[in-house]
Amino acid sequence: MIETTGFIHRFEKGRPEEPPLLLLHGTGGDENDLIPLARMIAPAATLLSPRGKVLENGMPRFFRRLAEGVFDEDDVRRRANELADFVTDARARYGIESPIALGYSNGANIAAAVLLLRPSELAGAILLRAMPPLPHPQPVKLDGIPVLIVSGAHDPIIRPESAAKLASLLERHGAVVEHRVVPAGHELSQADVTLAQSWWNKQAPQ
Ligand code: MLT
Repeated sequence: MIETTGFIHRFEKGRPEEPPLLLLHGTGGDENDLIPLARMIAPAATLLSPRGKVLENGMPRFFRRLAEGVFDEDDVRRRANELADFVTDARARYGIESPIALGYSNGANIAAAVLLLRPSELAGAILLRAMPPLPHPQPVKLDGIPVLIVSGAHDPIIRPESAAKLASLLERHGAVVEHRVVPAGHELSQADVTLAQSWWNKQAPQ
């Protein structure tokens, strides 16, 4: 466990030929949570995995919410910028390229916020169970940034319709978005892993 620019995080060096992955856990997770998932998707990639700094009843998150699915917009902006600064520092410290985010739920939502507010920090994103993090984001240039969004057909927390709105928002700003819906709920399934693996294999040189 390492702490820099205020984020407790894990760093695991991988093949320099592949883009690094920025792992962003869901509510109540930590920097260890997504490592096994990342290893299934991208066995040899460099991993950078911070722990969200906001605590909700003791559970780490990446930004404050007022209720389930109702976000504190000022905090989303502040925390997305703070996370983007962490990525900039970590890139210099570890000598790595811009990462592709791999986020789940709250982690997917903060990754979407970084794409909308600080697009140059990310080379792409895998957003598992994501929704629009901001109601009225400013126009942004996402020219060609690849994004995979995977929704659960029976997700009671983040409906696929909500993810579809995020997909069209990112597409309108130039991202290359693939939105898939798998037969699952809010929890992840093997179908998520399979989709993420094949998307990753298209991004990472073998
Ligand atoms: C969020 O707060 O980002 C979403 O409601 C998902 C969650 O973390 O439960």
